[in-house]
Amino acid sequence: MQLKGKRIIVTGSARGMGAATLRSYVKEGAHVIGMDIQDDLGREVAEQASGPGKASYLHIDIADPSSVFSAFDEACEILGGLDAMAHPAAIQRSSDAGEVTVEDWDLMFAVNVRGTMLTNQAAHKHMKQSGGGSILNFGSISGQRPEPSAAAYSASKGAVHSWTRTAAGTWGADNIRVNAILPAMVTPMYQEAIDRGFDEEKASRYQVQMAGIAMGGEYGDPDQHLGPVMVFFASDASWFITGQMIPVDGGQTNVK
Ligand SMILES: NC(=O)c1ccc[n+]([C@@H]2O[C@H](COP(=O)([O-])OP(=O)(O)OC[C@H]3O[C@@H](n4cnc5c(N)ncnc54)[C@H](O)[C@@H]3O)[C@@H](O)[C@H]2O)c1
Repeated sequence: MQLKGKRIIVTGSARGMGAATLRSYVKEGAHVIGMDIQDDLGREVAEQASGPGKASYLHIDIADPSSVFSAFDEACEILGGLDAMAHPAAIQRSSDAGEVTVEDWDLMFAVNVRGTMLTNQAAHKHMKQSGGGSILNFGSISGQRPEPSAAAYSASKGAVHSWTRTAAGTWGADNIRVNAILPAMVTPMYQEAIDRGFDEEKASRYQVQMAGIAMGGEYGDPDQHLGPVMVFFASDASWFITGQMIPVDGGQTNVK
């Protein structure tokens, strides 16, 4: 019951790390509203999460300002305020630096960067009224190092890191902390990225990525390895941590 009484929004809750985060919060006693663009899956994840906390679901398109602000207003009406917001929702596309199209670039920045700004602004508005809170963005090792197979995605995650530092500096005065998780987890997004290559490329990309994981040599399990970290960052125990990029990646970012 580390999150007893906490009122939390989780974006991207229909699958992957968003779904695991929602389950972890409900297990620790929080009242959670999951949001996603995939409504059937999103509803199912919220219905199946087992207590002592509880969860429900609302539709959101994080790239669309009116969708974000109306979903957050409705959620905070139901929750009676807002204490934490986890924001894993994002998209990834492969794109070589020389060939990335304007359409792909704009889509990636609309969802990953504008979506981060909008959800963070909406969360800030409600957390300020609640006396403070914790915002958890999702960056990536792709925002720290070159990512030749996903140039636009990599640039968008670099922008999420910069935004996270700036928002943390600005909103500390409102008792709101802002951090970003840099994960390495087995999820549908990860699987789709591996599957996009041809067989030989798939095998070598897999080997390179796993070679960087000092702990266990494999990407993590979102429920087992990410969930407890997300609980810590939503709890008051993490109050003095803000503006940080937190790798939860078995060592991939810094060890090798
Ligand atoms: N999987 C990894 O190892 C890894 C590594 C580095 C960073 N990340 C980042 O971690 C986060 C979670 O990734 P994941 O692997 O769980 O991804 P995922 O693709 O499995 O889940 C992402 C969710 O976001 C939702 N979404 C996409 N566009 C949306 C929109 N416009 N509005 C609302 N919801 C939308 C999707 O429907 C999906 O449910 C992402 O920000 C990702 O970039 C993942």
